[in-house]
Amino acid sequence: TTCELEAIVQRVKTKLGSKLFLPGHHYQKDEVIQFADATGDSLKLAQLSEENKEAEYIVFCGVHFMAETADILTTPEQKVYLPDMRAGCSMADMADIHQTDRAWLKLAELFGNTILPLTYVNSTAAIKAFVGKNGGATVTSSNAEEMVTWAFEQKQRILFLPDQHLGRNTAFNLGVPLNEMAVWNPILDRLEFEGDIEKVKVILWKGHCSVHENFTVENIKEIRQSKPDMKIIVHPECSREVVELSDLAGSTNYIINEINRSEQGSAWAIGTEMNLVNRIIKEHPDKEIVSLNPHMCPCMTMNRIDLPHLAWCLEAIEQGEPHNIIKVESHIGADAKLALDRMLAR
Ligand code: 13P
Ligand code: SF4
Repeated sequence: TTCELEAIVQRVKTKLGSKLFLPGHHYQKDEVIQFADATGDSLKLAQLSEENKEAEYIVFCGVHFMAETADILTTPEQKVYLPDMRAGCSMADMADIHQTDRAWLKLAELFGNTILPLTYVNSTAAIKAFVGKNGGATVTSSNAEEMVTWAFEQKQRILFLPDQHLGRNTAFNLGVPLNEMAVWNPILDRLEFEGDIEKVKVILWKGHCSVHENFTVENIKEIRQSKPDMKIIVHPECSREVVELSDLAGSTNYIINEINRSEQGSAWAIGTEMNLVNRIIKEHPDKEIVSLNPHMCPCMTMNRIDLPHLAWCLEAIEQGEPHNIIKVESHIGADAKLALDRMLAR
């Protein structure tokens, strides 16, 4: 039963004390978040994993790429666990390292040595390693503008992996016109661009988030019609068109902060993951808050981490027979760390 599972989690937490660290991403279910030692967006959780020198067991309540990042940033003695190995990320899966190596060769034929690669942290360790090896850095939705600005100080052009929307929205905010952005299609192995190729400044990997793509221009039109006073706030993983028509756009943290500091009685439609939207609704009974898409938009893979998996994972650690260790191969980890360190140093 739920009570028994909760008791197991509580027991192991009490027994292991500070030897156990349980970070939880904002998109996790309440049944998991209630036990988190820290909650945050991907940037904060990456920083906390790096700072934590005490924990021997880091049970990451988030998705696979976040657990990999935690493993890369912690010492070899610290072990990272993911309560359900099926908690992947469809966006991270859209950039595979072999596709990326092929793209890099072709892009070098077109643009020579003028491109710096950047990758959203929502990517595999192998992609982070590719970026690290080639002088680039990781970015998160909270520091994307700062990192893209940094990248343009190094090179004339950037390759932004794997989320075309975060890349496009960020570059656009920094003043790069849409007709100077090309899209790399990894399935067809070619650049999608019409115009003078010399003008291309940003090459966007053709990947997206299958959760945030569900917020549409139609949803915005409906809200504008039915609730003209409602403010619309979305995550920059939403398409350019959706961001353009919204009132505000920003990372998970930005969304939380904007709602927190808004006036009593204010009305919001939020375009981000369902568990976070539901939590914000609960925390602000004095405000009128809805999901921008009335069908809500859960991240199926984030939701694979649930109370039964968490209890199972912790019980296995307690019994000395742990499952689901996330271990990035050391040569990949070392190169990936270069990319992460360039971001964390800023
Ligand atoms: P942030 O936590 O960086 O806002 O990222 C959102 C996301 O999609 C995580 O998977
Ligand atoms: Fe990946 Fe999107 Fe889910 Fe985040 S919300 S884990 S980007 S699929």
